[in-house]
Amino acid sequence: MNQASKKLAAIGIGLLWSAAGITAHAAQSVPMPRLLHDHGRYELQVDGKPYLILGAQVNNSSNWPATLDKVWPAVTDMHANTVLVPMAWQQIEPSRGHFDFSYLDTLVKQARAHDVRLGLLWFATWKNNNPNYAPSWVKLDNQRFPRVVDKQGHVLNSLSPFGENTLQADRTAFVALMTHLKQIDGDRHTVIMMQVENEAGTFGTDRDYSAAADRQFKQDVPATLLKAMHKSGGSWSQVFGEHAAEYFHAWSIAHYINQVATAGKAVYDLPMYVNAMLRPPIGPARPGFDYSSGGPTYNVLDIWKAAGPALDMITPDIYMRDYKKYTTVLDQYHRPDNALFVSETGNDKPYARYIFASLGKQAIGYSPFGIDFTPYSNWPLGARKMDPESLAPFALNYELLRPMASQIAALSFQGKVWGVSEPIDKHVQTIDLGAWRVRVSYGLPEFGNAQFGHFIPKGNPKPVGGVLIAQLGPDKYLVTGLHARVEFLPPKGKPNEHLILDRVEQGQYVDGQWKFLRMWNGDQTDWGLNFVGAPEVLHVSLGTY
Ligand code: DGJ
Repeated sequence: MNQASKKLAAIGIGLLWSAAGITAHAAQSVPMPRLLHDHGRYELQVDGKPYLILGAQVNNSSNWPATLDKVWPAVTDMHANTVLVPMAWQQIEPSRGHFDFSYLDTLVKQARAHDVRLGLLWFATWKNNNPNYAPSWVKLDNQRFPRVVDKQGHVLNSLSPFGENTLQADRTAFVALMTHLKQIDGDRHTVIMMQVENEAGTFGTDRDYSAAADRQFKQDVPATLLKAMHKSGGSWSQVFGEHAAEYFHAWSIAHYINQVATAGKAVYDLPMYVNAMLRPPIGPARPGFDYSSGGPTYNVLDIWKAAGPALDMITPDIYMRDYKKYTTVLDQYHRPDNALFVSETGNDKPYARYIFASLGKQAIGYSPFGIDFTPYSNWPLGARKMDPESLAPFALNYELLRPMASQIAALSFQGKVWGVSEPIDKHVQTIDLGAWRVRVSYGLPEFGNAQFGHFIPKGNPKPVGGVLIAQLGPDKYLVTGLHARVEFLPPKGKPNEHLILDRVEQGQYVDGQWKFLRMWNGDQTDWGLNFVGAPEVLHVSLGTY
């Protein structure tokens, strides 16, 4: 930012901020949100406490004051604790150097009134590959802000990661955003994290073939990347062979975004992440054609990690209904060097159960996309219509989990959480808890079992089941779920011991404390612990005889 635009930005910030009536405090009274990492596990902390993101992402164009009254009813119905909202470059810097943060001011005020936290999505150089959310003075000026060029010389609708002016302008706007955010929210942290760009990458080519890109492509691979990939030196083609073009594009985009994030963090150090438009998780696929090249797809995560130390997480946007594909993606992004956060997923009913499998992979959060009551529907990715009825299974998940979200986050960080979702082709799953095992069955009535001959698990009529278990003590577990039967099995390696349920307490968490409601026994435990479509939580103590 030159001096004149800095001054303008500062005046704009001050005026809009006081106009919005948000009080600023110089001192930070609560700790910054941060992502803890230990032994390959992660915990997001907000206000110094473990935090599980029970998220809701609004539709793309719901980032205007006029749509907020369609957003809050859906968020409230859903019991979400965090709302992910686009912050578009075109919206905050419609003309160069003139910033308008009035929407952000309104959003933060209203989020506080609705008792939710926010994640802001920086739609700038990349929003699903393209710069459509960049201001007109950027996206219409190919000279100053060059686009990616394919091998044949066609100009594509993706900005080049080699555009120096583009990087400078994007970074300046992002820094202005973070500066303003710190001023209005630095003492409260209503905004807990930033997504830097959106689904970066390019369709239509495996890399940028512009002259600037070609010059770089002929250079040696940077030492940081060689080290991370355990390779010795040479040009991109020499080191990476047939993958050279894609790896080069991934490195270039990640390096660009890392610079934006670094500059933003220098001003206001919130957790920052990038989200991924996925490569098909199974089987071969062509970069730039079957999936967006250069984005943080699972095959280039090592490259993104090496190029993006300022990026706290790389997160999958999962719009695959298929169980095998969905759970494969969870495995691909749940890594010792990456916290799993399902930053987007479909808002149609079959997706709702996947929160359990996500938490079973130590997810720090989960956030369906398209959560507001504007008339838009993103079928077939999501629901045909977003209304309270479509929202119901997602609302039930959060109604169940929100009272104990902090406890689950803390136990997950200790490696004491397991979770499964209902597959299509199997109706029984086994979970290994170490000392004990658990059988989960889907599609059984609440009374009776297979020994009676007439109850073979056939699965729910539609796959809606899921189970979550967390260890509270050596033989004590928190158990919950929906549309599933849970049976503990005798301790491993002790064939002569018989399991007995010592105590099965139903209760609920209130202000972090377990409140006993009643004991389950008799019919409620003789046939396993049967969870139906109600938010029920148990503390189960196990013994043997
Ligand atoms: C993924 C993108 O990140 C979202 O902004 C949105 O466009 C969805 N795809 C599709 O609804």
